[in-house]
Amino acid sequence: MTQRLARPRRFATAASACLALAACGELSVEAPPTATTPLRTLAARRGIAIGAATGSTFQRADAIGDTLRAILAREFDMVWSGNFLKFSTLRPTATTWDFSWADSMVAFAQAHAMTVRGHTFVWHNQIPSWLAGGTWTSAQVDSILADHIATVMAHFNGKIRIWDVVNEAVDDNALRRTTFWSAALGPGYIERAFRLARAVDATALLFYNDYNIEGSGAKSDTVYAMLADLKSRGVPVDGIGMQGHFIVGQVPGLSALLANFARFAQLGLKIEITELDIRMPVPATGLNLFQQSLDYRTVVNACLQTPACDAVELGGVYDGDTWVPSTFPGMGAPLLYDESFHPKPAYGAVNDLLAGN
Ligand code: XIL
Repeated sequence: MTQRLARPRRFATAASACLALAACGELSVEAPPTATTPLRTLAARRGIAIGAATGSTFQRADAIGDTLRAILAREFDMVWSGNFLKFSTLRPTATTWDFSWADSMVAFAQAHAMTVRGHTFVWHNQIPSWLAGGTWTSAQVDSILADHIATVMAHFNGKIRIWDVVNEAVDDNALRRTTFWSAALGPGYIERAFRLARAVDATALLFYNDYNIEGSGAKSDTVYAMLADLKSRGVPVDGIGMQGHFIVGQVPGLSALLANFARFAQLGLKIEITELDIRMPVPATGLNLFQQSLDYRTVVNACLQTPACDAVELGGVYDGDTWVPSTFPGMGAPLLYDESFHPKPAYGAVNDLLAGN
């Protein structure tokens, strides 16, 4: 396929890419199977969107990048921005902006009739060092945040309709996280961020996004109480993003997922599974790949059975490009396609489920 990319090297043929990247022996690049009905076609019939993150493979101008982009466009009708819209990506220095990869992602999405989820304005990670290491007054940080949200939303001018306004504000002990933003702006920073985003774009869908909140538990309770409070005070939060970073065999049961989704829905929130991946010890065993297929089915089924759930987005397309091995040593294989772009049992399970089987 001929996707225009802004920065990377381009290769005329798969063979030249192989030679240049010394990757020929490691990766078999094949045309993906076309016999099954794509996930996006099936998901649309069921009334949900199905998405995946753009990662570093999206940026490759070679046969591997082409394969990834072909699968992305064929199987998914939504992308989420991975690292492309994080603060440190967009603003490497205090005076420079870099929208190049985000722009190429949005152009790709538009060319393939995909919606885009923007991630993220306020997060404790991937804040550039000029900002995190600076000495600022509260008013200065507020003005930097206001300028950031206004500039980014204006840049896309309505082409990104869904935003993770605040990401991961609750820690693993179910307490409000102390971060650069909370330290500078006080506990009202979450409300402030949502109000800033709404003031710039009256109709964008504004989400709070977090992990380990998919089923019941203390962290889910804290996030629920926080969102109930924000909603009761008229803060413009439209949805809850549940990241869905799971370990194989440890996905909450369907009834736990449904009960938890239902209480968030009762607050008037849309629900999306935003970064779904289900990791396992590597090398993968057949048993774990089978369990993973059951686990994927459970999570996607919970969305299908929840009227307020309108999208499932995966943490990536294939096992060759995922944050899991570097973050959880010894773990991997969390996605629907393996490292050679072959669909895994989990792909078949999700496809079957969406097809109504
Ligand atoms: C991860 C990216 O996938 C990595 O490439 C990066 O090095 C660190 O961040 N929750 C989130 C995502 O909201 O932004 C994180 O993404 C994974 C956890």
